[in-house]
Amino acid sequence: MKKSSFSVFFVIMGLSFGFVGQAIAQVAQVIGERIVRFDRSHEARHERKPSFALQHRFESLGDVGLDKLLTVPVYSIDPETGRTVASIAIDSGTSLYGTGQAAGPLLRNGFVTETWNFDAFGYGLGDPNLYTSHPWVLAVREDGSAFGVLADTTYRCEIDLRDGITFRAEGGDFAVIVIEGNSPQEVMMGLGTLTGTIAMPPKWAVGYHQCRYSYNPESRVREVVTEFRNRKLPADVIWMDIDYMDEYRVFTFDEEQFPDPKGLNDWLDTMGFSNVWMIDPGVKDEDGYFVSDSGDAHDAWVKDKDGNVYNGNVWPGVCVFPDYLNKDVRKWWAGLYEEFMAYNIDGVWNDMNEPAVFNVESKTMPESNIHRADPELGGTDTHARYHNVYGMQMIRASREGVMATNPDKRPFLLSRANFIGGQRYGATWTGDNSANWAHLDMSIPMSINLSLSGQPFVGPDIGGFAYNGDGELFQRWMGFGTLFPFSRGHTAKGNIDKEPWSFGQEVEDTSRRALERRYRLMPYIYTLFRESSKTGMPIARPTFFADPADPALRSEDDSFLLGADLLIVTKATPEGDRVSVMPRAVDGVEWAEFDFPDFDSGRDSKDEHLPRLFIRPGAIMPSAPVTQYFGDRPDSRDELTLIVHLDGRGIAQGIMYEDEGEGFGYLMGEHLTTAFYAEETQSEVVVFVRAIGGSMSYPERVIDARVIGSDKPVRVIVR
Ligand code: GLC
Repeated sequence: MKKSSFSVFFVIMGLSFGFVGQAIAQVAQVIGERIVRFDRSHEARHERKPSFALQHRFESLGDVGLDKLLTVPVYSIDPETGRTVASIAIDSGTSLYGTGQAAGPLLRNGFVTETWNFDAFGYGLGDPNLYTSHPWVLAVREDGSAFGVLADTTYRCEIDLRDGITFRAEGGDFAVIVIEGNSPQEVMMGLGTLTGTIAMPPKWAVGYHQCRYSYNPESRVREVVTEFRNRKLPADVIWMDIDYMDEYRVFTFDEEQFPDPKGLNDWLDTMGFSNVWMIDPGVKDEDGYFVSDSGDAHDAWVKDKDGNVYNGNVWPGVCVFPDYLNKDVRKWWAGLYEEFMAYNIDGVWNDMNEPAVFNVESKTMPESNIHRADPELGGTDTHARYHNVYGMQMIRASREGVMATNPDKRPFLLSRANFIGGQRYGATWTGDNSANWAHLDMSIPMSINLSLSGQPFVGPDIGGFAYNGDGELFQRWMGFGTLFPFSRGHTAKGNIDKEPWSFGQEVEDTSRRALERRYRLMPYIYTLFRESSKTGMPIARPTFFADPADPALRSEDDSFLLGADLLIVTKATPEGDRVSVMPRAVDGVEWAEFDFPDFDSGRDSKDEHLPRLFIRPGAIMPSAPVTQYFGDRPDSRDELTLIVHLDGRGIAQGIMYEDEGEGFGYLMGEHLTTAFYAEETQSEVVVFVRAIGGSMSYPERVIDARVIGSDKPVRVIVR
């Protein structure tokens, strides 16, 4: 009774001032180029909690007056919940994106989500919180200029986009960081500066991945891999899900089903397959099991509010959970990878790290549990505070272990749970989706909104995880799924087989064409990974990035861009009858459709299950012959086909980045960056090729250029 009259008072107060709750004067400081950090008050600034999102502290470059700023959050305290609220008004015509893993359309105006990492098996349209947390909104104004807003809190935080942008977070005050940009692209690069970028992955991880829960015993792994090679279906990676373990004890192997993991991995190498093996956080609580015993000895486990080791059930039964917030625990955990990686393991999959707990309604550990976090991370505090960064700190530790064991190799890690900034440690996928049309449809905007939230290395379970689906669905999903930055087929236990050949010849043929497209585009896609690792630019981008000022593109769900030059137009409904809005012509020149292998304008294969491919006017995209896997042809750098689409002035340009695809030599200059420039004259099209960066020697190579829509002879000049 008392509480409600209190809140009525503040609501009335609030209304008269144009806000709800108690407004407090905020302070602002510049922390980068067009980047400003706000706090609710001087006191809040002084007591600000360490950030997990930011890649370093970002000291103030000086205070700034609010009257000088375009975008200013208004802070208040919600009288009902006590949550700190930060609201940002938006002009009409402003489109909102981001908010991380959002189950629904690309355009987020009108939606409410919440940051609370959650084991969301069976999730559906509009579910407010999934596996990862990204308290971030990208706002694109009517004129195509943009700003981004980060609520820098790890606590549960509602992101309400029904009327402007409102963050309502538990856990007290939080900073709000606003990035201004002339375009959404500029804002994304600002986010990269703030939260860091992906590291360059090993090149095999940019290939196609094949997974299921689970390929077991090892003979099944060999069978699947052999089928891929026999059927000439390009693929780079095979995944080992939990059933390889000895009764789900992490860092062990089932002796009957996987008697010789090193032998298996060595054999996979000879087949040109890299391997990824799963490690979960839940450690079986069992005397005599080495991980459990050594964790006990290191006092490694998360405790309950009374200081007792916390137990929860996951795959192996009763488990204990490493406290990854603690430096000593991360070190201990990292050390476990030394023996594990020695089985010639290439990549690691950290799953269930929300953390998922089976035997409780919340599906995770109690918020009152205690983490002994490092002082730099914020010190000892509750799970309520650290829940959303538990998975992030797990892959941080895993990555340290993988790198310590293989210092000369680029690590590849996939994590189910993560937090904004976690792209620094690993890739993410969209969790346990379902094999139905709604999920196929959502998989595009979900991947794009994660990309727009700082996580570019992303994709869905192609084919759908839960349930079977049918050949038509699978065929369509493979058609465009092979063009996601992270491209992996996966399915749940008990489902029918879902390899590319499982649905008969027609589906297999579409899958092969789709896979071949990825491998042909590898020079272009790999270049995008490099760009992203340097600048934070997404790899897969919304179609409106082609023309941010065109309002017609703002809610385009069925198409997406790969980089700036390639537009992928899918059919995401069963009837395939939804019409995608195309970007406008540039100086009178339309985006041009092309296809492999002969690049003629229009569709070559006539395979309606494949998405249509369009190239931007003025772009040159490098492509290569089909390989079956990275390293299939060590000389594959020697043949290139440039896809050229001249702009209104008869000019096109492009760039290509190459390196060894493994190791860190590229950081010392061992790479090769090549620029392409095409110009149309009266009688011909001349394409200039010139090395512009890196110390790798320029290979002898045959370069062919295909100019879309032109009959003129083409001359390639290598400088
Ligand atoms: C979780 C993961 C899924 C995996 C399964 C078994 O559901 O999301 O990808 O296959 O656990 O490990």
